[in-house]
Amino acid sequence: MITLGIETSCDETAIGIIEDKKILANLVSSQIAHTKYGGVVPELAARNHIRVIMPLTKIALEIADLGLDDIDLISVTRGPGLVGALLVGLSFAKALSIALDKPLIAVNHLEGHIYALQMDGSHLEHPYLVLLVSGGHTEIIYVKDEFVYETLGKTLDDACGEAFDKVAKLMKLPYPGGPYIEKEALHGELGRVQFPVPKPKGYNFSYSGLKTAVLYYTRDNPGYSCCDVAANFQKAALEHLVEVVSAALGAKKVKQLGIVGGVSVNNRLREKFQGLSKEKGVALHIPDVQYCTDNAVMIALAGTRRFEKFGPSDLSIDVVSREALDKI
Ligand code: KG4
Ligand code: ZN
Repeated sequence: MITLGIETSCDETAIGIIEDKKILANLVSSQIAHTKYGGVVPELAARNHIRVIMPLTKIALEIADLGLDDIDLISVTRGPGLVGALLVGLSFAKALSIALDKPLIAVNHLEGHIYALQMDGSHLEHPYLVLLVSGGHTEIIYVKDEFVYETLGKTLDDACGEAFDKVAKLMKLPYPGGPYIEKEALHGELGRVQFPVPKPKGYNFSYSGLKTAVLYYTRDNPGYSCCDVAANFQKAALEHLVEVVSAALGAKKVKQLGIVGGVSVNNRLREKFQGLSKEKGVALHIPDVQYCTDNAVMIALAGTRRFEKFGPSDLSIDVVSREALDKI
Protein backbone atom coordinates (compact mmCIF):
# COMPACT_ATOMS: atom_id res chain seq x y z
CA MET A 1 0.00 0.00 0.00
CA ILE A 2 1.37 3.43 -1.00
CA THR A 3 0.36 6.22 1.39
CA LEU A 4 0.69 9.97 0.86
CA GLY A 5 1.12 11.78 4.20
CA ILE A 6 0.22 15.46 4.62
CA GLU A 7 1.20 17.53 7.69
CA THR A 8 0.31 21.21 8.16
CA SER A 9 -0.48 21.53 11.88
CA CYS A 10 1.94 24.37 12.60
CA ASP A 11 4.74 26.05 10.61
CA GLU A 12 6.06 23.07 8.67
CA THR A 13 4.46 22.05 5.38
CA ALA A 14 5.38 18.38 5.04
CA ILE A 15 4.66 15.72 2.44
CA GLY A 16 5.75 12.12 2.85
CA ILE A 17 5.23 9.04 0.73
CA ILE A 18 5.68 5.54 2.13
CA GLU A 19 5.16 2.04 0.83
CA ASP A 20 4.52 -0.06 3.93
CA LYS A 21 7.49 1.08 6.10
CA LYS A 22 9.71 2.04 3.19
CA ILE A 23 10.15 5.79 2.81
CA LEU A 24 9.85 6.90 -0.81
CA ALA A 25 9.87 10.65 -0.18
CA ASN A 26 10.14 12.87 2.89
CA LEU A 27 9.90 16.62 2.28
CA VAL A 28 9.59 19.29 4.95
CA SER A 29 9.34 22.98 4.12
CA SER A 30 9.98 25.01 7.28
CA GLN A 31 8.53 28.50 7.12
CA ILE A 32 11.07 31.23 7.81
CA ALA A 33 8.41 33.97 7.68
CA HIS A 34 7.89 33.67 11.47
CA THR A 35 11.53 34.20 12.45
CA LYS A 36 11.26 37.97 12.77
CA TYR A 37 8.18 37.67 15.02
CA GLY A 38 9.91 35.26 17.44
CA GLY A 39 6.97 32.83 17.23
CA VAL A 40 4.43 31.37 14.81
CA VAL A 41 1.86 33.81 13.36
CA PRO A 42 -1.17 31.59 12.60
CA GLU A 43 -2.44 33.47 9.55
CA LEU A 44 1.02 33.58 7.96
CA ALA A 45 1.39 29.86 8.58
CA ALA A 46 -1.89 29.08 6.77
CA ARG A 47 -1.03 31.34 3.82
CA ASN A 48 2.40 29.74 3.46
CA HIS A 49 0.93 26.24 3.51
CA ILE A 50 -1.36 27.21 0.61
CA ARG A 51 1.58 28.46 -1.42
CA VAL A 52 3.80 25.46 -0.80
CA ILE A 53 1.55 22.39 -0.56
CA MET A 54 0.96 21.77 -4.29
CA PRO A 55 4.56 22.20 -5.52
CA LEU A 56 5.85 20.17 -2.58
CA THR A 57 3.49 17.30 -3.44
CA LYS A 58 4.63 17.39 -7.08
CA ILE A 59 8.30 17.23 -6.04
CA ALA A 60 7.61 14.40 -3.59
CA LEU A 61 5.91 12.38 -6.35
CA GLU A 62 8.87 13.02 -8.67
CA ILE A 63 11.33 11.86 -5.99
CA ALA A 64 9.24 8.73 -5.39
CA ASP A 65 8.94 8.26 -9.16
CA LEU A 66 5.18 7.94 -8.87
CA GLY A 67 2.08 9.55 -10.33
CA LEU A 68 -0.94 10.61 -8.27
CA ASP A 69 -2.80 7.54 -9.53
CA ASP A 70 -0.29 5.29 -7.75
CA ILE A 71 -1.35 6.61 -4.32
CA ASP A 72 -3.60 4.14 -2.46
CA LEU A 73 -4.34 6.15 0.69
CA ILE A 74 -4.22 9.82 1.71
CA SER A 75 -3.30 10.37 5.35
CA VAL A 76 -3.58 13.85 6.84
CA THR A 77 -3.17 15.53 10.23
CA ARG A 78 -6.53 16.74 11.59
CA GLY A 79 -5.15 18.18 14.87
CA PRO A 80 -4.14 19.24 17.42
CA GLY A 81 -2.66 22.39 15.95
CA LEU A 82 -3.48 25.77 14.41
CA VAL A 83 -6.97 25.62 12.90
CA GLY A 84 -6.22 27.71 9.79
CA ALA A 85 -3.05 25.75 9.10
CA LEU A 86 -4.77 22.39 9.59
CA LEU A 87 -7.64 23.40 7.27
CA VAL A 88 -5.19 23.85 4.38
CA GLY A 89 -3.88 20.28 4.76
CA LEU A 90 -7.27 18.69 5.35
CA SER A 91 -8.98 20.53 2.48
CA PHE A 92 -6.13 19.58 0.14
CA ALA A 93 -6.38 15.95 1.29
CA LYS A 94 -10.16 15.86 0.79
CA ALA A 95 -9.83 17.35 -2.70
CA LEU A 96 -7.26 14.69 -3.63
CA SER A 97 -9.41 11.94 -2.14
CA ILE A 98 -12.44 12.99 -4.21
CA ALA A 99 -10.50 13.65 -7.42
CA LEU A 100 -8.55 10.38 -7.26
CA ASP A 101 -11.35 8.32 -5.70
CA LYS A 102 -8.94 7.10 -3.03
CA PRO A 103 -9.64 6.73 0.72
CA LEU A 104 -8.81 9.44 3.25
CA ILE A 105 -7.63 8.86 6.80
CA ALA A 106 -7.37 11.68 9.36
CA VAL A 107 -4.65 11.33 11.99
CA ASN A 108 -3.93 12.86 15.40
CA HIS A 109 -0.60 14.72 15.24
CA LEU A 110 0.58 13.30 18.58
CA GLU A 111 -0.13 9.75 17.40
CA GLY A 112 1.97 10.60 14.34
CA HIS A 113 4.92 11.54 16.61
CA ILE A 114 4.56 8.19 18.41
CA TYR A 115 4.73 6.30 15.10
CA ALA A 116 8.02 8.11 14.33
CA LEU A 117 9.52 5.58 16.77
CA GLN A 118 8.98 2.90 14.13
CA MET A 119 10.51 4.72 11.17
CA ASP A 120 13.85 2.92 11.65
CA GLY A 121 12.13 -0.49 11.67
CA SER A 122 12.05 -0.70 15.50
CA HIS A 123 9.26 -2.79 16.94
CA LEU A 124 8.07 -1.67 20.36
CA GLU A 125 6.32 -4.25 22.54
CA HIS A 126 3.19 -3.02 24.33
CA PRO A 127 2.92 -1.60 26.88
CA TYR A 128 5.57 1.10 26.64
CA LEU A 129 6.02 4.70 27.78
CA VAL A 130 6.47 7.69 25.51
CA LEU A 131 7.70 11.15 26.42
CA LEU A 132 6.40 13.55 23.80
CA VAL A 133 8.35 16.75 24.06
CA SER A 134 7.82 19.40 21.39
CA GLY A 135 7.03 23.07 20.90
CA GLY A 136 3.32 22.55 21.48
CA HIS A 137 3.22 19.52 23.82
CA THR A 138 4.98 17.97 26.76
CA GLU A 139 3.23 14.76 27.75
CA ILE A 140 3.97 11.37 29.14
CA ILE A 141 1.88 8.68 27.53
CA TYR A 142 1.40 5.05 28.51
CA VAL A 143 0.81 3.09 25.29
CA LYS A 144 -1.13 0.07 26.57
CA ASP A 145 -1.78 -1.44 23.18
CA GLU A 146 -1.91 -0.28 19.59
CA PHE A 147 -4.26 2.78 19.53
CA VAL A 148 -4.88 2.51 23.30
CA TYR A 149 -3.33 5.43 25.16
CA GLU A 150 -3.36 6.73 28.71
CA THR A 151 -1.97 10.22 29.19
CA LEU A 152 -0.24 10.04 32.59
CA GLY A 153 0.69 13.69 32.74
CA LYS A 154 1.18 16.79 30.67
CA THR A 155 2.41 20.34 31.05
CA LEU A 156 0.28 22.55 33.24
CA ASP A 157 1.49 25.67 31.42
CA ASP A 158 4.25 26.01 28.77
CA ALA A 159 5.53 23.10 26.70
CA CYS A 160 9.24 22.33 27.11
CA GLY A 161 10.08 23.42 23.54
CA GLU A 162 8.02 26.55 24.05
CA ALA A 163 10.15 27.38 27.14
CA PHE A 164 13.32 26.91 25.03
CA ASP A 165 11.81 29.22 22.40
CA LYS A 166 10.77 31.88 24.92
CA VAL A 167 14.12 31.88 26.73
CA ALA A 168 15.88 32.16 23.36
CA LYS A 169 13.61 35.06 22.42
CA LEU A 170 14.39 37.02 25.57
CA MET A 171 18.11 36.59 24.81
CA LYS A 172 17.43 37.79 21.23
CA LEU A 173 18.31 34.42 19.69
CA PRO A 174 16.41 33.40 16.50
CA TYR A 175 13.21 31.34 16.38
CA PRO A 176 12.84 28.40 16.91
CA GLY A 177 15.19 28.82 19.84
CA GLY A 178 15.84 25.21 20.94
CA PRO A 179 18.80 24.54 18.62
CA TYR A 180 20.33 27.97 19.46
CA ILE A 181 20.03 27.38 23.21
CA GLU A 182 21.71 24.00 22.77
CA LYS A 183 24.55 25.60 20.78
CA GLU A 184 25.09 28.45 23.28
CA ALA A 185 24.96 25.98 26.18
CA LEU A 186 28.02 24.17 24.82
CA HIS A 187 30.14 27.19 25.82
CA GLY A 188 28.39 27.94 29.12
CA GLU A 189 29.52 27.02 32.62
CA LEU A 190 27.19 24.98 34.79
CA GLY A 191 26.56 26.42 38.24
CA ARG A 192 27.42 30.02 37.32
CA VAL A 193 23.69 30.81 37.42
CA GLN A 194 21.20 28.88 39.54
CA PHE A 195 17.78 28.23 38.07
CA PRO A 196 15.24 26.15 39.99
CA VAL A 197 14.38 22.71 38.63
CA PRO A 198 10.55 22.73 38.50
CA LYS A 199 8.91 20.35 40.97
CA PRO A 200 6.72 17.67 39.36
CA LYS A 201 3.05 17.69 40.30
CA GLY A 202 2.10 14.05 39.94
CA TYR A 203 3.33 13.18 36.46
CA ASN A 204 2.67 16.70 35.23
CA PHE A 205 5.24 19.20 34.02
CA SER A 206 5.50 22.95 34.54
CA TYR A 207 7.84 25.37 32.79
CA SER A 208 6.43 28.82 33.55
CA GLY A 209 8.36 29.22 36.86
CA LEU A 210 11.69 28.35 35.24
CA LYS A 211 10.96 30.68 32.33
CA THR A 212 10.11 33.52 34.74
CA ALA A 213 13.32 32.88 36.74
CA VAL A 214 15.32 33.31 33.52
CA LEU A 215 13.34 36.45 32.65
CA TYR A 216 14.10 38.05 36.06
CA TYR A 217 17.76 37.02 35.95
CA THR A 218 18.37 38.51 32.50
CA ARG A 219 16.43 41.67 33.41
CA ASP A 220 18.37 42.18 36.66
CA ASN A 221 21.78 41.31 35.18
CA PRO A 222 22.02 43.19 31.86
CA GLY A 223 25.62 42.01 31.32
CA TYR A 224 24.58 38.34 31.65
CA SER A 225 26.42 35.63 29.76
CA CYS A 226 24.12 34.13 27.14
CA CYS A 227 26.07 30.83 27.20
CA ASP A 228 25.82 30.49 30.99
CA VAL A 229 22.09 31.26 30.98
CA ALA A 230 21.53 28.78 28.14
CA ALA A 231 23.56 26.01 29.83
CA ASN A 232 21.88 26.38 33.22
CA PHE A 233 18.37 26.83 31.81
CA GLN A 234 18.84 23.74 29.63
CA LYS A 235 20.11 21.74 32.62
CA ALA A 236 17.07 22.62 34.76
CA ALA A 237 14.62 22.09 31.87
CA LEU A 238 16.01 18.63 31.08
CA GLU A 239 16.31 17.58 34.75
CA HIS A 240 12.58 18.26 35.11
CA LEU A 241 11.84 15.91 32.21
CA VAL A 242 14.08 13.21 33.68
CA GLU A 243 12.48 13.50 37.15
CA VAL A 244 8.92 13.13 35.85
CA VAL A 245 9.78 10.26 33.50
CA SER A 246 11.76 8.53 36.25
CA ALA A 247 8.71 8.68 38.55
CA ALA A 248 6.44 7.36 35.78
CA LEU A 249 8.85 4.48 35.09
CA GLY A 250 8.61 3.59 38.77
CA ALA A 251 4.84 3.36 38.53
CA LYS A 252 4.41 1.59 35.19
CA LYS A 253 6.35 -1.56 34.58
CA VAL A 254 7.52 -1.22 31.00
CA LYS A 255 10.56 -2.49 29.13
CA GLN A 256 10.77 0.35 26.62
CA LEU A 257 10.79 4.12 26.71
CA GLY A 258 10.32 6.22 23.57
CA ILE A 259 11.08 9.94 23.30
CA VAL A 260 9.61 11.89 20.40
CA GLY A 261 9.02 15.50 19.31
CA GLY A 262 11.34 18.36 18.38
CA VAL A 263 13.12 18.70 21.74
CA SER A 264 14.31 15.07 21.46
CA VAL A 265 16.79 16.33 18.84
CA ASN A 266 18.75 17.80 21.80
CA ASN A 267 22.00 15.92 22.45
CA ARG A 268 22.08 16.63 26.20
CA LEU A 269 18.54 15.25 26.45
CA ARG A 270 19.68 12.10 24.65
CA GLU A 271 22.65 11.68 27.00
CA LYS A 272 20.56 12.23 30.12
CA PHE A 273 17.91 9.74 29.08
CA GLN A 274 20.55 7.19 28.10
CA GLY A 275 21.70 7.45 31.72
CA LEU A 276 18.16 7.06 33.05
CA SER A 277 17.40 4.09 30.79
CA LYS A 278 20.52 2.28 32.07
CA GLU A 279 19.62 3.05 35.67
CA LYS A 280 16.05 1.79 35.22
CA GLY A 281 16.87 -1.12 32.92
CA VAL A 282 14.58 -0.01 30.09
CA ALA A 283 15.46 0.16 26.40
CA LEU A 284 15.51 3.72 25.06
CA HIS A 285 14.15 4.57 21.61
CA ILE A 286 14.59 8.04 20.10
CA PRO A 287 13.95 8.47 16.36
CA ASP A 288 16.54 9.72 13.94
CA VAL A 289 16.70 13.54 14.10
CA GLN A 290 14.69 14.04 10.89
CA TYR A 291 11.73 12.15 12.43
CA CYS A 292 11.83 13.93 15.81
CA THR A 293 10.58 17.23 14.41
CA ASP A 294 7.36 17.58 12.42
CA ASN A 295 7.27 15.50 9.23
CA ALA A 296 4.68 13.71 7.13
CA VAL A 297 6.11 10.20 6.93
CA MET A 298 5.11 9.71 10.57
CA ILE A 299 1.57 10.82 9.61
CA ALA A 300 1.60 8.44 6.63
CA LEU A 301 2.66 5.50 8.84
CA ALA A 302 0.14 6.23 11.63
CA GLY A 303 -2.59 6.69 9.00
CA THR A 304 -1.76 3.42 7.24
CA ARG A 305 -2.04 1.52 10.54
CA ARG A 306 -5.29 3.25 11.49
CA PHE A 307 -6.78 2.62 8.05
CA GLU A 308 -5.87 -1.08 8.19
CA LYS A 309 -7.64 -1.44 11.55
CA PHE A 310 -10.56 1.01 11.35
CA GLY A 311 -11.07 1.82 7.65
CA PRO A 312 -11.26 5.30 6.10
CA SER A 313 -12.41 8.56 7.70
CA ASP A 314 -15.66 10.14 6.61
CA LEU A 315 -15.19 13.03 4.18
CA SER A 316 -17.20 15.29 6.51
CA ILE A 317 -14.39 15.14 9.09
CA ASP A 318 -13.25 18.48 10.54
CA VAL A 319 -10.00 19.76 12.04
CA VAL A 320 -9.52 20.03 15.82
CA SER A 321 -7.33 22.53 17.66
CA ARG A 322 -7.07 20.18 20.66
CA GLU A 323 -7.45 16.42 20.89
CA ALA A 324 -6.05 14.29 23.70
CA LEU A 325 -4.72 10.90 22.65
CA ASP A 326 -6.93 9.00 25.08
CA LYS A 327 -10.02 10.63 23.51
CA ILE A 328 -9.47 9.48 19.92
O1 KG4 B 1 7.94 18.59 17.09
P1 KG4 B 1 8.23 19.97 16.61
O2 KG4 B 1 8.97 20.12 15.31
O3 KG4 B 1 6.93 20.81 16.46
C1 KG4 B 1 5.84 20.74 17.34
O4 KG4 B 1 4.97 19.83 17.15
O5 KG4 B 1 5.83 21.58 18.27
O6 KG4 B 1 9.04 20.70 17.79
C2 KG4 B 1 9.54 22.01 17.68
C3 KG4 B 1 10.18 22.40 19.01
C4 KG4 B 1 10.55 23.87 19.09
O7 KG4 B 1 10.11 24.40 20.31
C5 KG4 B 1 12.08 23.85 19.03
O8 KG4 B 1 12.71 24.92 19.70
C6 KG4 B 1 12.38 22.52 19.72
O9 KG4 B 1 11.39 21.64 19.21
N1 KG4 B 1 13.73 22.04 19.39
C7 KG4 B 1 14.71 21.90 20.31
C8 KG4 B 1 15.87 21.49 19.59
N2 KG4 B 1 15.52 21.38 18.26
C9 KG4 B 1 14.20 21.71 18.16
N3 KG4 B 1 14.73 22.10 21.64
C10 KG4 B 1 15.89 21.89 22.28
N4 KG4 B 1 17.04 21.51 21.66
C11 KG4 B 1 17.07 21.30 20.33
N5 KG4 B 1 18.21 20.93 19.72
ZN1 ZN C 1 4.80 18.06 16.34
